[in-house]
Amino acid sequence: MRIAEFELERYFARWEFAVRHLLCASDVEGWPMGELLALADDETAALWRDLRLGYTEAHGHPLLRREIASLYETAAPDDILVLSGAEEGIFALVNVLVGAGDHAIVTWPGYQSLYEVGRGCGADVTLHELREDAGWAIDVELLRRQVTSRTRLVVINAPHNPTGMLPDRATFDAVVDIAAEAGAHLLVDEVYRYLEVDEADRLPAGVDAGSHVISLGVMSKSFAMAGLRIGWLATRDADVLRRVAAFKDYTTICASAPSEILSIIGLRARDTVLGRSRSIVRDGLAAVDDLIQRRQDDLAWIRPRGGSIGFPRLRAGLDADRFAADLVEAEGVLLLPGSRFGHPGNHFRIGFGRTDVVAAIAGLERHLARVRASG
Ligand SMILES: Cc1ncc(COP(=O)(O)O)c(C=O)c1O
Repeated sequence: MRIAEFELERYFARWEFAVRHLLCASDVEGWPMGELLALADDETAALWRDLRLGYTEAHGHPLLRREIASLYETAAPDDILVLSGAEEGIFALVNVLVGAGDHAIVTWPGYQSLYEVGRGCGADVTLHELREDAGWAIDVELLRRQVTSRTRLVVINAPHNPTGMLPDRATFDAVVDIAAEAGAHLLVDEVYRYLEVDEADRLPAGVDAGSHVISLGVMSKSFAMAGLRIGWLATRDADVLRRVAAFKDYTTICASAPSEILSIIGLRARDTVLGRSRSIVRDGLAAVDDLIQRRQDDLAWIRPRGGSIGFPRLRAGLDADRFAADLVEAEGVLLLPGSRFGHPGNHFRIGFGRTDVVAAIAGLERHLARVRASG
């Protein structure tokens, strides 16, 4: 397969560990290992202590699949396939579902692999553009028109990277129906689920919405454990899961043994884990709200309805690439310009899931003041 470079990941490879403040991270501040182990119950403490570092079960540890299934209303452990990160889930699933001659529709701007893998597989990928002047919302009528007789896959991401958009229930139901009527699968990338600003806005999980729908989850974002590299697909379509499992034999075969046990511990303690994440994200969002309020002449945004990130806009005339490059040099604060999503101009991604958000914003604000002073 020939596939275009992943712009966002190349940018992070250059900068992520070289800056003082990562003001564009999408994950929540990682759990300290010692504190996670302290959450273990008797059974998981023994699993950890007695763990042998052999290969693991290809579909995932049975107890892990049980914990993941319990996140959903209708999924059984057999409806879960454990993968190495959400990224492997995207790669394997899209490879299995589309090829040359097939058509896929993917929301954009967005996480590049959601549309790039399909292109790499030779599929014809239509980008469903989310527009700021429409609140970054999915346009149901446009989506209906984008469907063709060759459409095999529709992909949405909710809450959405990079905008923090979260469809309302009617839109979500309409997307589920459009995919079903097209005879297509629907992939719902739910890696930011549980980080809704208002918990009442949480959508049903994709897997619970229909047997043609596949939920993508991960320990990285709302569960704040990106270093585990544990993700999963959940679907009641047994044939899809079987084909993805067979594909995985060519990528990772099975997941990391220590990571599986640590994930079971984290998922069993989900109330504590998600409570911490929601509190960090709430504080971070409040700090960004304050910044945008203070700097209305320089910044504007559609306030996120979910997730740990948003997509603000610099005042007209400022270019996000130039601004981010100068900011990192002057203050050691990293933003992610929209160009990394194929969306050049004055938008950038800001992340508010880390505990240094206030210090990072102070650096950003000093820089904004300098830019304004220089005209
Ligand atoms: C929308 C979305 N999907 C999938 C992923 C991949 O998650 P992971 O890096 O944990 O595999 C990311 C990571 O940023 C993401 O933002």
